[in-house]
Amino acid sequence: MRRAELGLGELVKPATRVAGELRVPGDKSIAHRALILGALADGESVITDLPSGEDVRATVACLRSLGVRIDRDATEVRIRGAIPSPAGGGGPGWGLSNPHGPLDCANSGTTMRLLLGLLAGSSVSAVLDGDGSLRRRPMARLVEPLRRMGARIESRDGHSPLVVTGVPLQGRRHVMSVPSAQVKSALLLAGLAARGPTTVMEPVPTRDHTERLLTAMGADLRVTAGTIELRPSHRPLRAIRLAVPGDFSSASFWMAAAALRPGWSITIDAVGLNPTRTAFLRILEAMGAAVDVELTRTDLEPRGTVRVTGRPLRAVALAAEDVAGAIDEIPALLAVATQAEGRTSIVGAAELRVKESDRIAGMAEGLRRMGALIDERPDAISVEGPAALRGATVASNGDHRIAMALAIAGLAATGSSTIEDADCVAVSYPEFFATLRQVTHES
Ligand code: S3P
Repeated sequence: MRRAELGLGELVKPATRVAGELRVPGDKSIAHRALILGALADGESVITDLPSGEDVRATVACLRSLGVRIDRDATEVRIRGAIPSPAGGGGPGWGLSNPHGPLDCANSGTTMRLLLGLLAGSSVSAVLDGDGSLRRRPMARLVEPLRRMGARIESRDGHSPLVVTGVPLQGRRHVMSVPSAQVKSALLLAGLAARGPTTVMEPVPTRDHTERLLTAMGADLRVTAGTIELRPSHRPLRAIRLAVPGDFSSASFWMAAAALRPGWSITIDAVGLNPTRTAFLRILEAMGAAVDVELTRTDLEPRGTVRVTGRPLRAVALAAEDVAGAIDEIPALLAVATQAEGRTSIVGAAELRVKESDRIAGMAEGLRRMGALIDERPDAISVEGPAALRGATVASNGDHRIAMALAIAGLAATGSSTIEDADCVAVSYPEFFATLRQVTHES
């Protein structure tokens, strides 16, 4: 039995070298969207390289509870669209059926928010619930704009469990108050079933996987700088075939590991390179790391090979726009910043406090325990480098990205570290610690 399974946490030893070539599991964000949109399409969608992490499993289970047929074998997943028969009428989502119990979104904010948008304008009623972490995450940012479209949703003071009763919706113009691809995507899903156009304006760009998939599936979507307009269509979405690229956010931990020391190097193949996701590469380059990118496919979701090689690092200053483009990579970046010359500062980062855990507090506490000098503000964090890290027992707070980022920091420490509650990596990257052992060479 592994240490993590015994509740002992995961042991990370310092590395003398990090090197290797690898692939990472399929992109979680793309997978949720392909499953949900496939469920609304006319015919059978086929997805390969769907990741096996718990978040995506939650979306599969919720869709099945809504009557969507999803068959999975070793290589592919087939989704039978739930659109009604031609005589059935109604918009997308009107072929779903009432679930027998609450829909368990587990730890997955994307599952909960996207399904809320989908169900708001459907013909079903459902309760969306999740684990303790998900119940603490803010839902008013989505519930309120959906209510302006006419949605009937009850929440527990802006939090889940959420009770949604599907009703006909009216398209509206929404101006995003916080940068959030989940909220944007949920509003577009609601817009598919609404009367009249739905417009979402985002002052800061966020990942555009939903827009790409909707366009590929034949939705009437217009995207101009910062504005997305969706017009409901009487034609159902077309089924798709999609090979999910590797998850850039999972790959970022290996990029960070390689950047820690001059000469360390990791190559990641078939990784997603959607430009709305790759700001972290530019940040690593600005810090001094060598970054080589080769695009191998530029279709629906671009992908390719990334090689990061460590070189002497210098600190960077990131503003709110930089944060939105690298929102899931900031924990890994903080680990790298401990080894950079100077003060790395990240401002406009309040969103990090409402992720699976408070990621500013969690990273500050973990890195401090390892000996780093951290300054923490309500919406900012800075790291003084380079720090001589020492191995420590650190808490993941049940947050997969904190567990992985602190494990990466542990590679640059003197002495071993223990990452507590490390099995939470299964949310997005069940094989993370096995791969960590493959690419690190211990002292
Ligand atoms: C995601 C959007 C981001 C990101 C999350 C996945 C998505 O969340 O942090 O891991 O798939 O749309 P927000 O929309 O809350 O910024």
